Amino acid sequence: MTTQDTNPDSQSPVRGNTPDGRSGPGTMPATESAVMLTEQRIVVLDFGSQYAQLIARRVRDQHVYCQIVRHDITAERMAELAPRGIILSGGPSSVYEENAPQIDPAIFDLGIPILGICYGMQVACQALGGKVDNTPSREYGRAMCEFVDHESIFRGMQASEQVWMSHGDQVSHIADDFTVMARTSTCPYAAIRHNTRPVFAMQFHPEVTHTPHGGQILHNFVRDICGCDGSWRLGDFADAAITQIRAAVGKKRVICGLSGGVDSSVVAALLYKAIGPQLSCILVDNGMLRKNEQRIVIDEFSNHFKADLHVVDAEDQFLDDLAGVEEPQEKRRRIGYAFIECFKAEAKKIEDAHFLAQGTLYPDVIESGADKDGPAATIKLHHNVGGLPEELGFELIEPLRDLFKDEVRRLGLELGLPEQLVWRHPFPGPGLAVRCLGEVTREKLAVLREADAIVVEEIENAGLYRETSQAFAVLLPVQSVGVMGDARTYDNAVAVRCVNTDDFMTADWSHLPYDLLARISTRIINEVKGVNRVCYDISSKPPATIEWE
Ligand code: XMP
Repeated sequence: MTTQDTNPDSQSPVRGNTPDGRSGPGTMPATESAVMLTEQRIVVLDFGSQYAQLIARRVRDQHVYCQIVRHDITAERMAELAPRGIILSGGPSSVYEENAPQIDPAIFDLGIPILGICYGMQVACQALGGKVDNTPSREYGRAMCEFVDHESIFRGMQASEQVWMSHGDQVSHIADDFTVMARTSTCPYAAIRHNTRPVFAMQFHPEVTHTPHGGQILHNFVRDICGCDGSWRLGDFADAAITQIRAAVGKKRVICGLSGGVDSSVVAALLYKAIGPQLSCILVDNGMLRKNEQRIVIDEFSNHFKADLHVVDAEDQFLDDLAGVEEPQEKRRRIGYAFIECFKAEAKKIEDAHFLAQGTLYPDVIESGADKDGPAATIKLHHNVGGLPEELGFELIEPLRDLFKDEVRRLGLELGLPEQLVWRHPFPGPGLAVRCLGEVTREKLAVLREADAIVVEEIENAGLYRETSQAFAVLLPVQSVGVMGDARTYDNAVAVRCVNTDDFMTADWSHLPYDLLARISTRIINEVKGVNRVCYDISSKPPATIEWE
């Protein structure tokens, strides 16, 4: 398999990051992010990406714009960003490790309210005079926390509440400058505050749902302590984004690749709202799309939005390129190459094109703190369009680069896209080719497409589509013996793959009801000519991947 996304149907380029979270060398976005306009923001210092992302989402739940920056941002740059508050995230390191992520201590002198969480607490204590020790046993799980201070950040908390702990080190001594706000039986400094500076710190994680009133704590911090008024709305985001797109684009033309996926559809809808006839969309139909996919895109963008849509029917070219190829990586390579060729050829026909729009999302932009090369490491490679903007000499527009996936879906609905499109499961760039094992042929694709449509339809009918993250059919390169009527058959086998996952990096197989599986199996065998056996894939990821190739 090639490098995979956590955001499978985005189309992000390869990029580097600078400490302030703006794009580094490589493709520069033509537009500053729309939300940069907001005056009230909270900044999360990233000491380990997963934690930072979750905190940012929770702050945005409070209708306050939240931006993640690298932990080594300078105090000078932080002062320029002028956030209302700073949150130091948790992270997997120990403050005493060599190369442990550090903070510019001058940030504590800016007078901006600071909340340190877990590792962030230890960083704050280290900087302001506390002592951090390695506890004999890692503490992981629920703990009862006694809140001795019910003011400011803990306003509204009961005397004793459940919190979620996940740490090795913990603060073992606080300087006189700090006051204890909460403790547990194993953690005497579960939460502390500085006596003269607006600095709060907690060992537990308010951002996870296992801390039931963690939302209240974050609310108290961002609204009461930082003074944010909670006025950030996605609708405002759309308005600001539209204004900025218009300003950046002027009278020029923008090209947007459509794939039938959520991200590219939302980008196109947003651009259409902003610049209408100056937008040209390209859909490369590689012959490996899902059933009716081309029609759905045409209905939405050509018939409904009246956008200038170029559909490239490239099935023959892709199938010719794949003829006789069985090796999965080689299949992917050829599809990637053919896609770029087709896209480029069509883009060149659009004479006055100046910009290329892509559906890069926020998680693609922020760096992976877990990467061994440190914070400046590459974010991810994209399989489909990486490198295209430079090659075509286009400027890049990434209007979704400040949003999380769930925000993109909500924005899509606000822009008038149908639920069916907005909630569609992700679909890989190489399409059905990675689900049609071995050599890909037109005939095999036709069988797979029908079986796949039945899987999706039955799961939708059972009301379980949104509860599964991905559900599809795989055509196996296996024939087996069956009996239909009185006759012996020797036909294909189909595997059904349904998974539940938050981030697509790990996944569990969906525990679908037996009667639903039975309906899927019966319908596929009865309705899809050439299939006499259906299996259900009960492998989790890892060790299996979600796709079969
Ligand atoms: P795996 O199979 O690696 O898939 O567990 C994880 C997620 O990534 C999607 N995927 C792709 N998406 N181009 C894409 O845009 C690709 O080449 C590609 N390969 C896998 C897969 O569908 C799942 O959501």
